[in-house]
Amino acid sequence: MTDPLHSGWRRRPSPPHRQRQQADDGGVFTGSDQPAQSHPVFDQTDVLADSFGRFHTYLRISLTERCNLRCTYCMPAEGIQLRPKPEMLTFEEIVQLAELFAKLGVTKIRLTGGEPLIRNDIEHLVGRLSRIDGISSLAITTNGLLLPRKIDDLKAAGVTLFNISLDTLKAERFRSITRRDGLETVLQAIRVTLDAGYEPVKVNCVVQKGVNDDELPSFVEMTREEPLEIRFIEYMPFGGNDWTERYFVSYKEMVMNVRGAYPQLERRVDATNHTSKSWAVPGYVGSVGFISSMSDNFCGSCNRLRLTADGNLKVCLFGHNESVSGTLCVRACRRASSCLSSIPLSTEKKPRMTAWLRSLRLRIAR
Ligand SMILES: C[S@@+](CC[C@H](N)C(=O)[O-])C[C@H]1O[C@@H](n2cnc3c(N)ncnc32)[C@H](O)[C@@H]1O
Ligand code: SF4
Repeated sequence: MTDPLHSGWRRRPSPPHRQRQQADDGGVFTGSDQPAQSHPVFDQTDVLADSFGRFHTYLRISLTERCNLRCTYCMPAEGIQLRPKPEMLTFEEIVQLAELFAKLGVTKIRLTGGEPLIRNDIEHLVGRLSRIDGISSLAITTNGLLLPRKIDDLKAAGVTLFNISLDTLKAERFRSITRRDGLETVLQAIRVTLDAGYEPVKVNCVVQKGVNDDELPSFVEMTREEPLEIRFIEYMPFGGNDWTERYFVSYKEMVMNVRGAYPQLERRVDATNHTSKSWAVPGYVGSVGFISSMSDNFCGSCNRLRLTADGNLKVCLFGHNESVSGTLCVRACRRASSCLSSIPLSTEKKPRMTAWLRSLRLRIAR
């Protein structure tokens, strides 16, 4: 069994080129933004604002449905039914769409999936996206397995922030949660990302009762000497993952858990448009965030839009009916004018909070 706290997971001393990355509270399906920037050509308040006054400046782009892990909370063991390749967005189409959204006021892009790093030549896509006028932040959420071999190219191409997912520090558990081996590689991914100068490096940890909730203090200990932001995420239901309350650990329970080991844990100021509640152990280099999507969601300040790998726009992670399927099919969007006029319709559809999420929250609160 691997115990990273005692097996030398820590990286070598920082190289002199370390640079501070932009503040960001991005991560799982969430993230904060830079303050909205006005754009000289389009007025984003007209186009990417919804009827609740939320400005959509953050675009998550799913590059693929495929993945090299099978996390129990995300995918069935046999994987998911993949759509035919011709239905997937090409890099060229992704760039065209990103350019359109940037003109409308999007300032931040996050690449996700599936596992985004399994898309061949992702560094070329990143290079093109990072050169788009108005895009100030380009983040990637990854399971880390392919990161050690790609970190240099991705950094050179312009990635500004990495979120690396890791739910356990024990090799056996890693295998049972992800149905694959790979703990050492993910730990190496964290090390090389720190070595490349990223600060902070965000680590996404989905917390499940009786599965990994005994490891929260070990994750917090990783922030003692390294600029890591460990982000404990409430287990969420979606994609038919057989979610049950039995495995659910709320934000409050997680804080109590960590405080059992670190009574000095203190609340910090949250980032703008925060989705993560920020805490830290005084004197530790890194910090701890809690993503309370279920027990105390951030719908009211949600500024995110999601582009699926097959080119549909979704305005809400949770909503089953908020996909703007067909409205923003990228093939139709080649005629820029029709695309521009369809986006406001899409964002108008965005609810303050879906009825479905609201009913789940009520159940959890009981
Ligand atoms: C869907 S994955 C895609 C990117 C990449 N494959 C990865 O795992 O980082 C993005 C993030 O969603 C989180 N996630 C997946 N299923 C979840 C669930 N049921 N509840 C909470 N977070 C979840 C993962 O842990 C990961 O941090
Ligand atoms: S959470 Fe990420 S790594 Fe795990 S199965 Fe889902 S897409 Fe793959």
